[in-house]
Amino acid sequence: MLKKLLKRNTYRSIRRKLFPFKRLPDEFYDALYVSINGAPLFIPENTYCVDLAVRNLPTDDPVIEIGSFTGMSTCMLSHFLELHQRRNTLFNVDKWEFEEKEKQYYSRVLKVTPETMKHYIRESFIRNLQLCCGSRLPATIELFSDDFFECWNTRSSLVDLWGRTVMPGGPISFAYLDGNHQYAFVKRDFDNVSKWLVKDGFIFFDDSDPAIKSGVRDFVQEGSWKKEYELVIKNPNYLLRKIR
Ligand SMILES: C[S@@+](CC[C@H](N)C(=O)[O-])C[C@H]1O[C@@H](n2cnc3c(N)ncnc32)[C@H](O)[C@@H]1O
Repeated sequence: MLKKLLKRNTYRSIRRKLFPFKRLPDEFYDALYVSINGAPLFIPENTYCVDLAVRNLPTDDPVIEIGSFTGMSTCMLSHFLELHQRRNTLFNVDKWEFEEKEKQYYSRVLKVTPETMKHYIRESFIRNLQLCCGSRLPATIELFSDDFFECWNTRSSLVDLWGRTVMPGGPISFAYLDGNHQYAFVKRDFDNVSKWLVKDGFIFFDDSDPAIKSGVRDFVQEGSWKKEYELVIKNPNYLLRKIR
């Protein structure tokens, strides 16, 4: 009996070392992964975190995504909202104006101008969303996040990318942050969300994995969020829940 238990524990500890992070098998994710461009930006472990947050949303208040790129994470958020039969409106925000180092990267490697790249990624977003969540399109706001939050704070109506008039403002239940990755931007996105996030609401920081050098990692490691938030999971990106 003891031998069996020791064997099982050894097996578990080896497995934990080899696969330390949690994944959630999901056919929708698999289908997107092989069919839409930009899919690898949403690592499979994020699926577990998004499912966890959406499953436990404390209210029906909006879910917000900052930084959509070609729409992989937008589609995943939309998918889990539908799967868990949540009525929360999804707002996603992107102006498709890339950070300077990204513009240089595309110019150098693909030999394309920033304008060409912006057009291509924006068009990809539209096509991907229409293909994968055409029946539940989010409110897509083509602004920088600072300008979006300005509208959120003042409850100024907006026309989304699909031509619909939408009304931002009020409490937020979950924010998926993946916009500008420089520290100052990450902190501002966090502060702007935090002002409106309900108690027990969630914030997910993509690219906050301690193993990856980025302003997101620096913000999360600094730990100023600990006053109001608890860590739900580090998988390897951070999912936080507001506790006060
Ligand atoms: C890493 S990509 C997002 C990937 C996407 N979340 C996914 O997993 O499929 C970052 C995106 O943030 C956008 N972005 C950069 N700065 C931003 C800002 N200040 N406000 C909103 N979006 C921003 C970029 O245009 C880019 O599309």
